[in-house]
Amino acid sequence: LSKGCLGVFDSGVGGLTVLRELLNVPIAYDRVLYFGDTGRVPYGSRSAETIIQYARQDVHFLLEMGAEEIIIACGTVSAAAMDDLRREFDDIPLTGMIEVSARAAARATQNGIIGVLGTQATIRNGAYQRQLQAINRDFRVISTPCPLFVPLVEYGFTGENDPITRLTCQRYLEDIRAGGADTVILGCTHYPLLAPFIAECLPGVTLINNGIEVAKALACPEESAGAPRVEYFVSDDSAAFDRNAGIFLGSSRQVRSTRIDIERY
Ligand code: DGL
Repeated sequence: LSKGCLGVFDSGVGGLTVLRELLNVPIAYDRVLYFGDTGRVPYGSRSAETIIQYARQDVHFLLEMGAEEIIIACGTVSAAAMDDLRREFDDIPLTGMIEVSARAAARATQNGIIGVLGTQATIRNGAYQRQLQAINRDFRVISTPCPLFVPLVEYGFTGENDPITRLTCQRYLEDIRAGGADTVILGCTHYPLLAPFIAECLPGVTLINNGIEVAKALACPEESAGAPRVEYFVSDDSAAFDRNAGIFLGSSRQVRSTRIDIERY
């Protein structure tokens, strides 16, 4: 099998939680490009039109760099821009976060009550809810926007027992807990970094991690798990990204990203 180039992007560092999972499975690519749009993060508080415009530029950049398949490692773009991207880039495989995670949640739930956490744009769009109810109309879906989660992660409030993050989680998860959900989709790729806090508020609840589900979907058992070469690109200060990336990738991986001008694409 010939090896090729996979593109992965997010608004910032969140998509690294997806990249981490992709690097844990054998994939049919020997080169991986990661783009974090750090100059324009967050996407989740923006209008659909802006998110679509940003996402088109992100895809153009990765294609120009040689990507043959693209993983949209951002719940917000997957919810708000997927249809437009598929229409414009119809000759390239694009994988978003919604379908795989909705399917995983549908398999996991016992009582049919599923919580969805996401950015404002993701929850407003309703993509996870639609996908879940397309699988089973009887699912009860409790959706909660969590606008403070991305800044908490971007600014590193992820240390064990951080009191601010803990209180924020308690507040945001109240409805899902009261509603009796047994499964919760972490519908934003930043959120796996808050999983210990979320799990503490929702004991016994199954948390669905987009990255793990996408990695399962992309894994090629016939490939050897040889580590692909990863190149990182950002649209703003690369030093800050490089410092955070190690934590996000959950390894001692050395990251040296290149700053690009995304407005050119
Ligand atoms: N990581 C992105 C997501 O999955 C959102 C972060 C942002 O708001 O830019 O939704």
